[in-house]
Amino acid sequence: MVTAAVFAKLGHNCWVVEIDDEKIEKLSRGEIPFYEPGLGELIAKNVSAGRLHFTKHYKEAIPGSEVIFICVGTPSIKGKIDLSYVYSAAKSVAENLQDPAIVVIKSTVPPGINAKIKKLMKNYTQVEFDLASVPEFLREGKALEDSLNPYRIVIGAEKKSVARNLLQLHRKIPGKRLVCNPVSAQLIKYAANAFLPMKISFANSIAILCDKFGAEVEEVMKGIGMDKRIGPDFLAAGLGYGGSCFPKDVAALISLSRAKGYSFAILKAVEKTNRNQVDYFVKKILRLCGGSVNNKILVVLGLSFKPGTSDIREARSLLVIEKLQKEGAKIRACDPVAIPEAKKILKGVDFFENPYKALKGAEALILVTEWEEYKNLDFLKIKSLMKSLLVIDGRNVYNRKKLERLGFIYEGIGK
Ligand code: UGA
Repeated sequence: MVTAAVFAKLGHNCWVVEIDDEKIEKLSRGEIPFYEPGLGELIAKNVSAGRLHFTKHYKEAIPGSEVIFICVGTPSIKGKIDLSYVYSAAKSVAENLQDPAIVVIKSTVPPGINAKIKKLMKNYTQVEFDLASVPEFLREGKALEDSLNPYRIVIGAEKKSVARNLLQLHRKIPGKRLVCNPVSAQLIKYAANAFLPMKISFANSIAILCDKFGAEVEEVMKGIGMDKRIGPDFLAAGLGYGGSCFPKDVAALISLSRAKGYSFAILKAVEKTNRNQVDYFVKKILRLCGGSVNNKILVVLGLSFKPGTSDIREARSLLVIEKLQKEGAKIRACDPVAIPEAKKILKGVDFFENPYKALKGAEALILVTEWEEYKNLDFLKIKSLMKSLLVIDGRNVYNRKKLERLGFIYEGIGK
């Protein structure tokens, strides 16, 4: 949807094929099926300008299209990548091709898979087509910003003419360009989505050392991030990474490596560190609650895997809540947009839209997702509401001095 909306904004005539009934119904009513800042407005604008169309049927969208992006999901379960949606989309594209076209794989797929996709498509069409790979690097919650202003656009194409065509298509979008072979393009995507979690797990390990030595992780990360070779980004320590991409792609790269006879030791440690971070946090909560949370009311702020999205896939909140419930805690949970999604998964949790209502009589405030509205809470008001003045900060966003002055006990991770 983001790809289509952005190319429509740039003046192209775009069709989106979506085979899910519920999603396509929502789209035809002008609603988008997930929360993404600015996307709804951009879609509405381009639909009314006549440049963006939605359909359930490939036969309506494919004939006459010059470039076809396959953007379907490639979920992975325990590192095993499910490519069935890619194959099914590729088959349907091939069946409906009437004119030569460039088919671009935007989905995250194992390096080297294009030959198999091409062979499959050739079983269903006689029409000439080229297959290229242009991986997606946008972040959820910042999808438009990242698409309209990307760090780079990677174009994996075997033929120069195809690369030229795709460069031309992206010409109004700024950012660096890398033209390479499709296998490299596909590996770039996995390598990027493994390198960033590696930085996060590294920062989280240093945070544990900061707890042990009495250092401040934010100062340490600032200090190393000033070195251009290291860089300041993706070094925010806390509860670790979640979402639909990092956990899936790290697991997938470990398993793709294993299939080629290579044991990717660093990545296994990245994964393990990320898992342990939640245990480390829950142990902190237990200790700060006097050794037990049994029957205690604990308030979890933030359910989505990060701010700015309703996505709760692999969210740290789910793990933290599950572990605290096992210890007998009564959980109240808040989120500005993810409660409907969380309700589908979490059982025995009381959901609150208003954090102040949730905090009435609570024994601890536990910050899991750093939404702006939770960063700027009125702690003077909260002081009059809570039973015990305990703040446990899984994202290191609160000011310890300010909270301690108000009489709270405060603990972050590596602070
Ligand atoms: C990530 C990548 O950043 C995108 O470049 C990529 O296109 C996308 O995956 C994808 O493959 O589709 P996204 O999952 O939307 O994007 O979210 P990020 O903003 O990267 O955050 C991922 C997780 O890392 C979140 O849980 C966040 O809380 C955590 N994180 C991030 C940290 O714990 N510390 C940090 O310093 C940064």
